[in-house]
Amino acid sequence: MERRTLLVSGGVVATAAVVAACGSSEEAAPVESAASEAPAGDSSQVTSAADPLASTADIPVGGGLIVEEPAVVITQPTEGDFKAFTAICPHQGCLVSEVVDNEIICACHGSRFSGTDGAVLEGPSQQGLTPAGVTVDGGSVILS
Ligand code: FES
Repeated sequence: MERRTLLVSGGVVATAAVVAACGSSEEAAPVESAASEAPAGDSSQVTSAADPLASTADIPVGGGLIVEEPAVVITQPTEGDFKAFTAICPHQGCLVSEVVDNEIICACHGSRFSGTDGAVLEGPSQQGLTPAGVTVDGGSVILS
């Protein structure tokens, strides 16, 4: 099983694919930047998954990691404190695009959200990002 992610750190967007722990031997394929993607649909709820979403090493302090499936953005506002939110912007449904200086940014129309609690920092979105519970098990971040 392959989990597609967008790695985001300090305004530099890199693409990569992460093979889940239970994964196959399929070769990882890069994903395109979310900035050019169409709205991702009406998915305001994040579903639970038992397999690791990411490695803690992939989530920089003040930055974050955007996972496409399930659509979740994981942040680390302060060292060792991991947060997660739905990565679907409540404005018109785009996948958020990056995390810079502890702010989650949606490039579709410029909404910005707190990487600490998902609250709206700047519209046009009138709603914040829905929190998703995560736990850290060793070096892995898991939806709880
Ligand atoms: Fe995110 Fe419009 S869809 S700001």
